[in-house]
Amino acid sequence: MKRTLLPFGLAVLLSVGAIGLACGNSGAPAGDDPSGPSGAIAPLQFLPDELAQRGKCEEFLEKAEVVGKKQLTGSEAVTSPWVLTLKLGDVTHRSLWKDAQGRMGGFWEGWNYEIAAYRLDKLFGLGMVPPTIERRFEGTRGSCQYWVDDCISIKDKDAKRLKTPPIKVFGWNRATYLQRFFDNLIANEDRHKNQVLITPDWRMILIDHSRSFRTSGRFTKTLLYSAKSPDGPMLMSELPRAVVEKLKALDFAAVRAAVGEYLTDEEIRAVLVRRELILEEIDRLIQVNGEAKVLY
Ligand SMILES: Nc1ncnc2c1ncn2[C@@H]1O[C@H](COP(=O)(O)OP(=O)(O)OP(=O)(O)O)[C@@H](O)[C@H]1O
Ligand SMILES: [Mg+2]
Repeated sequence: MKRTLLPFGLAVLLSVGAIGLACGNSGAPAGDDPSGPSGAIAPLQFLPDELAQRGKCEEFLEKAEVVGKKQLTGSEAVTSPWVLTLKLGDVTHRSLWKDAQGRMGGFWEGWNYEIAAYRLDKLFGLGMVPPTIERRFEGTRGSCQYWVDDCISIKDKDAKRLKTPPIKVFGWNRATYLQRFFDNLIANEDRHKNQVLITPDWRMILIDHSRSFRTSGRFTKTLLYSAKSPDGPMLMSELPRAVVEKLKALDFAAVRAAVGEYLTDEEIRAVLVRRELILEEIDRLIQVNGEAKVLY
């Protein structure tokens, strides 16, 4: 089977001068239907070739020249980020650049959290966060994230009353459990319907992590997604064994190595406190449902 889709909703294989910006492919192993229980890999986030290509996207974000800029404003872009059009060689692609830092609209924002979130997504092999690096724009430091084309948000989906295709429900549900796992770990208090993108082949992409890595009691005593979520149970019902094993192995040094200086010691310690809470919650789920139902 020839695969041409890139993991972040891009429809073609690109090349950037000497750098091949082929960030991977849509992910379905040949012959496997990843959307069904028989698929070896359910939610399309784990293919090694996808993960292997992300460095090239990062390189593009770093090296490409800014050839266009447009600032987003309004209630659905409260940090007023910029859409920067980048060009390297004969490849042009957009990115989302953000320099939010500090209290904005009553919430603490940090562009550095965008980078830390991407790096932890990479550490866990989730493949749900688009490549994100630090880049200066007009002299100011900020995060620069690869733009995901051809997606709709959950908000768009609801507005258009689109239904998840039945064949995609299984994979989508598993992606949702991973999103809950990830947001639990990074304490992302802003996962609203605009921040979950749906690719044309119904993979889940997660954007906007500038309100994450909280350290207060609210984010270290309980998890955002659990049986006790304020809006009713929101469980991490099924998780890949490999992800859970990585969580078990996670320690301060591993987080520091992954995130560099983009998190403080206190923020890393809070991640590790949530690690404990997540492992307790997984143990609870296993006791209730059995390991075979929870881990795959
Ligand atoms: N990587 C991306 N690919 C495609 N679209 C993106 C990407 N990043 C951001 N967007 C679009 O830009 C909008 C604003 O980006 P983002 O949510 O990061 O900014 P924000 O100021 O934190 O917004 P909010 O007010 O929702 O918190 C998103 O809702 C989405 O429509
Ligand atoms: Mg935001």
